[in-house]
Amino acid sequence: MDKSKKYSFLVVDDEFPIIKIISDILTIHHSVERIHTAPNGVEGLEIYKNNPIDFVITDILMPQMSGIDLIKKLIEYNPDAQIIVVSAFSDIDLVRDAMRNGAYDYILKPFSIEDMMTAINRIIERREFVEERKHYIKKLEAKVAETTIDLRGKYLSTLSTLVFALEARDRYTHDHSQNVSRFSIGLGKAIGLPASELSLVKEGGILHDIGKIGVPDSILLKPAGLTDDEYEVIKQHPTIGKNIVFPALKEHQISMDVVYCHHERFDGRGYPDGLKGEKIPFHARIAAIADAFDAMTSKRIYRSNRSVDEAVEEIKNCRGAHFDPELADQFIRNIDRIYQEKGDEIF
Ligand SMILES: [Fe+2]
Repeated sequence: MDKSKKYSFLVVDDEFPIIKIISDILTIHHSVERIHTAPNGVEGLEIYKNNPIDFVITDILMPQMSGIDLIKKLIEYNPDAQIIVVSAFSDIDLVRDAMRNGAYDYILKPFSIEDMMTAINRIIERREFVEERKHYIKKLEAKVAETTIDLRGKYLSTLSTLVFALEARDRYTHDHSQNVSRFSIGLGKAIGLPASELSLVKEGGILHDIGKIGVPDSILLKPAGLTDDEYEVIKQHPTIGKNIVFPALKEHQISMDVVYCHHERFDGRGYPDGLKGEKIPFHARIAAIADAFDAMTSKRIYRSNRSVDEAVEEIKNCRGAHFDPELADQFIRNIDRIYQEKGDEIF
């Protein structure tokens, strides 16, 4: 028992001599700091609610409110209420009832100083054990959370490295993920997204094409146009990507949405699910514009790049079809700022 800790007690009994005896015993216990008393359950409950009380010692047979009803109300008010009942041996059935309703211990009358001290020690030790366990669980949970964040960070940086390695094999798509991230952040800033969402948009942008790891090189790096069958294979990359990032990002819904839905089209003709309009997650609609803009303004193995003006014109033409019209308008309106976006300060 931690002798430096002090506790407050509430003694409830309709017989004043009993209150006096219990209070006197409590006074000589080293851990007792304050003693409240009440002549019945109604007053006892009021005192309990209005004072920081650690333990209650109550009689069972009392006028107005029985000890059993008091226990029920105390437990209802505070499920962790610590209660000892004091009762005559002839009322042993009531003692059982009290224990069933939440009392921790009981003392039978007539009791000795030693009986009372033992019961007080027992309830204090139990309280300290419960608190120590709570503290231990809290520490453990914090440690687990810390480790999870650490692992998630390591997993994310591994995934990002994979993306960069994937892009490094194709000189035409290097920096694509970073550009999609930058332009998504630029558009996100233009429409006033909070920093918490911008960081997830950035993460989603970096990882959006990670599923291409599962697409054979013969298709991914093919210099000519793709056959229908090959295009079907390419179309699996959002699903593959979602499966890859899920262990790390399952709590980052926005990033998951970007990875899985960046090829959905506003008119419902996109993939993988053919979602339409606002059924497409909002942040994936942002990434779709950023993705198309970077694809248009970058050289590809099978075609040369377009100018920023040409790409903007194409986005304008595709508003409402490929792209969310309002986001497309915002993108066009803020293109200078978006094109200059670095995104470095996000994370
Ligand atoms: Fe993609």
